[in-house]
Amino acid sequence: MAEQFDLTVIGTGPGGYVCAIRAAQLGMKVAVIEKRDAPGGTCLNVGCIPSKALLHTTELYEEASSHFETFGIDIGKPRINLPAMMRHKADTVDANTSGVEFLFKKNKITHFHGTGSIEGPGKVVINDEKGDRQTIETKNIVIATGSESMPLPGVETDEKRIVTSTGALELEKVPGKLLIVGAGVIGLELGSVWARLGAEVTVVEFLDRILPGMDGEVGKQFQRLLQRQGFTFKLGTKVTGVDADGDTLKVFTEPAQGGDTEQIDADIVLVAIGRRPFTEGLGLEEAGVERDERGRVKTDEHFKTNVDGIYAIGDVITGPMLAHKAEDEGVAVAEILAGQAGHVNYGVIPSVVYTSPEIAAVGKTEEELKADGVEYKVAKFPFTANGRAKAMLAKNGFVKILADKKTDRVLGAHIVGRSAGELIHELCVLMEFGGSAEDLARTCHAHPTLSEAVREAAMAANDGPIHM
Ligand code: FAD
Ligand code: NAI
Repeated sequence: MAEQFDLTVIGTGPGGYVCAIRAAQLGMKVAVIEKRDAPGGTCLNVGCIPSKALLHTTELYEEASSHFETFGIDIGKPRINLPAMMRHKADTVDANTSGVEFLFKKNKITHFHGTGSIEGPGKVVINDEKGDRQTIETKNIVIATGSESMPLPGVETDEKRIVTSTGALELEKVPGKLLIVGAGVIGLELGSVWARLGAEVTVVEFLDRILPGMDGEVGKQFQRLLQRQGFTFKLGTKVTGVDADGDTLKVFTEPAQGGDTEQIDADIVLVAIGRRPFTEGLGLEEAGVERDERGRVKTDEHFKTNVDGIYAIGDVITGPMLAHKAEDEGVAVAEILAGQAGHVNYGVIPSVVYTSPEIAAVGKTEEELKADGVEYKVAKFPFTANGRAKAMLAKNGFVKILADKKTDRVLGAHIVGRSAGELIHELCVLMEFGGSAEDLARTCHAHPTLSEAVREAAMAANDGPIHM
C-alpha cells in the first residue's frame, strides 16, 4: 500500500521547506520531494546564499583596497584568492543546506529525492535518478517548484562563457570584460562581485532606467554611484545576438526601438533578464491545474488552485520572486491547512539589493503613489550628515520616507546606504502597525548608529531633522 501523508510539498526552496516545517510543527505528517541533491532550492544552492557569500567577500576586499590606508590599517595591497573565495561560498551553501536536512529530520519530515508529479488530487509520483518510481498518497499537495532563468531569444547559454546567474557564481577567473544583459537585481549584484575584482562591466538594459520597479530617484542616484565604481550602462538598448565563434564574444546590440547595430566585445556574457515559473514535469495539465498567461500556477488568496487539495506558493505563483515572500506564503498555507488564519501582507514585503551601497525598499514608490492619486509628502535624510556613517567612510546614500500628506501614515520607505537591508526593518514593523512618521521620529534611537538617519528622515516629515 502507498505511504500516506497529510501534506506533500513538491520543491524544497524557501517556500517549500518552510511550509513543510511549519506544517510538521502544527501536527501534520509531511513529505517533501526535491529533485536537486540538496534541499534549499534556488535560494540556498544557486541564489541568495552563494551570491551573498561572494558579495560579502568582495565588499571586504574593496573596503580593504580603498579605505584601510585611511583607517590606519597597513596591510599593503590586498590580493584576491579566487579558489579560496569559491571554497568559502561552497562551505556556506553546504552549511545552509545541511541545516535544512537537519530541520527535516528534527521535524520528522520524510524527504524523497526525485522529481515529483501530480497524478491527481491525493496522489503524487516520485521518479528518481535511477529510474525508480514510487507513488505516495496525501491529503494535500503544495506546489513550490520555484523558477528558472528567462532565456534571451537567439542567445544560447552554456554556463561557461554565456552564463545565467548560476554560471556567474562559478567563474574560474575574473573576466576582463563582462557584459550583462539586464540592469535588474541579479545583473547589478553579480556585476558588483566581478567589478570589485577588476572586471570591466557593461550593462545593457532594454528600458531607459536601472532597477525598474524601484523608486525612480533611487534608481537614478544608484546608477551614478555604480558608474563611479566603473559600471558602464547602455540603457534603452537590446542585445540581438552573440557570436561565440572566436576567443572573444561579439555581442550585437540595437536601440530598444530598433536602429543601427553596434558590436561590443566581451569575455563573459551574463543573461539576467528575469526569471519564469518552473512547472516542467509536474503533470499540471493531467491534474487539471490552471496557469495564467505567464505560466504561473493560478491560486486564490488562500493559495488554493482550481483543484481541491492542491495549493501553490513562492516563485511559481504571482508576486515578487523573493525568498522571504515564498517563506511567508509557506507559513501561511501550512496554517490555513491546519485550520488557522494564515495570511501574507503583500503591502509590507521588503526588497533589498545587496550591492555597495545596499538598496532597500518597502511599500510604495513615488511613482506608484502618483499613479494612485495619493497625496503624500517626501522626507529625506542623507548619510553624509550621520556621525556613524562618517566614521565608517560610508557616507553615500540617503533615507527617503513617503508618508500620507494628511494622516502622516508611512506608505513607503527607500534607503540607499551601508546596511540598508538591515535598516529597512524598523520601517517594516512601523508599517505593519500602521505607524506614522511621527511615531518613528519620537522613538529614541541609540547614538551613534546608522539607524539615526532613519529617525532623522522621519523627523523631516514633520518638524524637521536636527542634524541638517
Ligand atoms: P526555489 O527556491 O526555486 O525552489 C524550488 C525547488 O523545487 C528547487 O530546488 C527545484 O529543484 C525543485 N523542483 C522543481 N520542480 C520539481 C519537481 N517536479 N519535483 C521535485 N522538485 C522540484 N531572493 C531574495 O529574497 N533575496 C536574495 O538575496 C536573492 N538572491 C537571489 C540571487 C540569485 C542569483 C537568484 C537566481 C535568485 C535570488 N533570489 C533572492 C530569489 C530567490 O532565490 C527565490 O525567490 C526563491 O528561491 C523562491 O523560492 P521557492 O521556494 O519558490 O523556489
Ligand atoms: P529583474 O526582473 O530584476 O531584472 C531584469 C532586467 O532585465 C529588467 O531591468 C528588465 O527591464 C531587463 N530586460 C528584460 N528583457 C531584456 C532584454 N531583452 N534586453 C535587455 N534588458 C532586458 O530580473 P533578474 O535580475 O534576472 O532577477 C530575477 C529575480 O530574482 C528577480 O525577480 C528578483 O526578485 C530575484 N532576485 C532577488 C535578489 C534580491 O532580493 N537581492 C537578488 C537576485 C535575484
